[in-house]
Amino acid sequence: MSFNVAVLVSGNGSNLQALIDSPKLAASTVAIVKVISNVPSAFALTRAERANIPSRVIEHRGFDSREAFDRAIVDELQQARVDLVVLAGFMRVITPVLLEAFRYRVVNVHPALLPAFPGMHGVRQALAYGVRVAGCTVHLVDAGVDTGPILAQSVVNVLDEDDEASLAARIHAEEHRLLPQAVCWFAENRVSITEVEGRARARIRRDDHEPRL
Ligand code: GRF
Repeated sequence: MSFNVAVLVSGNGSNLQALIDSPKLAASTVAIVKVISNVPSAFALTRAERANIPSRVIEHRGFDSREAFDRAIVDELQQARVDLVVLAGFMRVITPVLLEAFRYRVVNVHPALLPAFPGMHGVRQALAYGVRVAGCTVHLVDAGVDTGPILAQSVVNVLDEDDEASLAARIHAEEHRLLPQAVCWFAENRVSITEVEGRARARIRRDDHEPRL
């Protein structure tokens, strides 16, 4: 049986492309069954079409509330029998409507080493702060902004000559490596959530044949 993944996007979709192209995913039970965009012009939709993945545009502007928008998304996801929802550059804050329908089954990729630099401009803020290492985080989504249990992180050195574009490019390359790996963990049922001191924490059951990330 396939492990059905939906990818929610708003823009370029390079992370969607990384999932489409991942040999690891191709060799797994993962099937990307649906791409949903809230932006009709998102290039991610073209990527989905080229890969023959069914896509749907659901514009948030057409709804009275964030909850009503999320309800429409949940309906679409349930129809497609989705097991895991991946937010890959999806520029909307999601509500409990989606989170409760897919409890601990919504994953986000963020271009900073959380909990540092959450929000829209993680790369810019990291550079402005003068950090020597930056990176990316794949995490489960909870009700906050970029606050959910961390699944995986990857570190990138910040170079003296970096600007936002050059640093973002190296961080994106790491995102493209990390995100397919994290999706595989779900498909292999290796992710567990435990409460530690009142906070949900993700643990990944290790596969002894796998090198540490
Ligand atoms: C990525 O940097 C991701 O971390 C952030 O949005 C960006 C999406 O890029 N959440 P893309 O659309 O996948 O190219």
